[in-house]
Amino acid sequence: MDQIEITRPDDWHLHLRDGSMLTSTVPPSASVFRRAIIMPNLKPPVTTLGLAEAYYERILGAAPGDSDFQPLMTLYLTDETTPDEIQAAADSGLVFGCKLYPAGATTHSDSGVRDPGQIDHLYAALQRAGLPLLVHGEVTDTDVDIFDREKVFIDRHLTGIRERFPELRMVFEHVTTREAVQFVKEAGENTGATVTPQHLLLNRNDLLVGGIRPHNYCLPILKRDIHQHSIQQAVLEGHPRFFLGTDSAPHVRDHKETACGCAGCFSAPAALPLYAHFFDQHDALDRLEAFASLNGADFYGLPRNEDSIQLIRTDWTIPDRVSIDDDSLVPFLSGQQLEWQIAPHRL
Ligand code: DOR
Ligand code: ZN
Repeated sequence: MDQIEITRPDDWHLHLRDGSMLTSTVPPSASVFRRAIIMPNLKPPVTTLGLAEAYYERILGAAPGDSDFQPLMTLYLTDETTPDEIQAAADSGLVFGCKLYPAGATTHSDSGVRDPGQIDHLYAALQRAGLPLLVHGEVTDTDVDIFDREKVFIDRHLTGIRERFPELRMVFEHVTTREAVQFVKEAGENTGATVTPQHLLLNRNDLLVGGIRPHNYCLPILKRDIHQHSIQQAVLEGHPRFFLGTDSAPHVRDHKETACGCAGCFSAPAALPLYAHFFDQHDALDRLEAFASLNGADFYGLPRNEDSIQLIRTDWTIPDRVSIDDDSLVPFLSGQQLEWQIAPHRL
């Protein structure tokens, strides 16, 4: 097979940042994905409907003129978020989820929720409003090993939230462990999961063997291969509640290639070809469409896209750099040769 056509995909987890960086981050996503769930971890974070509306306009302002890209906005939950704000967001038709960042878990999460066990009033408001809870599922305790933080979060928080709020729609973002995969599978219809290209294609050896590779560093951190295989299996078996969420998270090169580098992989320039590569590697290209274009829309209760996109088998190399202002972004897996590309290629 040298060409495939699939329903136009959506990205259910995307960081675009703000300001002048939007000029570099919006076009590569908008040229491929019809819709994207926009993460709210700006500085300051997107905590209110008003801030989400303003950010929405800035994103659209950076989209190419002929683009029909639709940003699906989210709110950033804090200890101060009110149930009324959640209801207003749900009623707006502009906000499609609220993101739970445990304070200190990742980039720009310092205003996040201090104790996810103490915000039942917010889970109740989300459940009532029918707005999904999007979860960064890691505890932050300094004495919990970084490789165990996802599993401990499930045991300490997620299992209880799931039981107390059975109708709450919940997306376990960027799953990285066997335990997370198992939790999502067993949790039933109201629990879904996003899967990033890096957690499908890589494991912690790709971060640490032969030298530290800062562009493979993201949070939750890459785990050992048994966890990677469990994520791969859920996706390859076509489980309907696992769907595409790139977690493309740009940081300028100087902030990645340094003594204390930022977490995040800028996967947008090659995201769909990377997923296609993964499915092709496993002789499962026929499973790409549901994962990339159907499962997420179905989970969010949104219509499936009506247009389509073609991928063609052609060799190309992920670019070394994307320039921004006086700086540059290094795409995830830059320099790697890929066999699939989007046609016509409009980056
Ligand atoms: O690697 C990550 N980068 N993980 C996150 O949760 C946040 C993201 C970012 O915003 O840079
Ligand atoms: Zn993210």
